[in-house]
Amino acid sequence: MTTVFTTREELRTWSKGAGQRAVVMTMGALHEGHAHLMDVARERVGAKGQVIVTDFVNPRQFGAGEDFERYPRDLDRDVDICADHGVDVVFAPGVDVVYPTPGSAAGAITIEPGPLGSILEGAARPGHFAGVLTVVAKLMHLTSPDIAFFGEKDYQQLVLITAMARALDWPVAIEGVETVREADGLAMSSRNRYLDPPARSLAARIPAALAAGAAASLQGADAVRKAAADHLRAGGLQPDYVEVTDPELGPAPERGAARLLVAVPVAETRLIDNIAIDLGDPA
Ligand code: PAJ
Repeated sequence: MTTVFTTREELRTWSKGAGQRAVVMTMGALHEGHAHLMDVARERVGAKGQVIVTDFVNPRQFGAGEDFERYPRDLDRDVDICADHGVDVVFAPGVDVVYPTPGSAAGAITIEPGPLGSILEGAARPGHFAGVLTVVAKLMHLTSPDIAFFGEKDYQQLVLITAMARALDWPVAIEGVETVREADGLAMSSRNRYLDPPARSLAARIPAALAAGAAASLQGADAVRKAAADHLRAGGLQPDYVEVTDPELGPAPERGAARLLVAVPVAETRLIDNIAIDLGDPA
């Protein structure tokens, strides 16, 4: 049985139970990527543990002119999906519950992501990661989990949340979960539903470009960037960025483990994706 809570009080009085508590934070419009996080969470805490999904479209992480208003919302459908995946509680608060005191001193306090918050997605979306970290911090305290699961799909977000938990000494384990993809490789995303059929088929170039980049990995980071960017441009796509970094989003290493990350507008929709790559054994 999945229970829906909308208030802080309901959460507070929900007793902790015998096992561990896991949280999966979402903005709703749930898809199989989200469902996989729920399954991984359940597997980790077992039948005696608790799995909570938060379902909240956070206004503070959307910039002016972004899709906050039209972001898809369908709580009934989300709750059905959560029930199918054995989730114990869906926390679906209103904006006034999460941000009860707009205009007050408390309402003005945010979490500053530091320099990692202004590169890649943060460069294109100023203030985005302050909005993400602030809501994640609040939802973390409201749900008090032992473990929190986040997708590698939003890799920069995962790195920043991991860093925040470490920086602020939170007693919660942050775990990354691999990206769930469509049959043609496109990473599942709530925003994929904005794509019309031509845009949707063009979007399959994004995972193909990542694969092209990975295939060049033994020639070094520059070759990876070029191979991925060429593949996108050959299909008429203009990437916002094609970057190779180390796994912590620092400068690309000469050799070894690295990350290839892209952001690509397809028609009106900005899509992001990334994969782990290996630049080869150290000489
Ligand atoms: P949202 O985009 O709904 O994603 C919720 C979680 O699902 C995130 O951890 C995200 O990385 C993960 N996810 C999305 N698509 C995935 C896929 N194809 N495979 C695996 N995991 C996937 O990310 C957010 O919401 C928000 O920023 C949030 C953290 C909830 C704060 O508002």
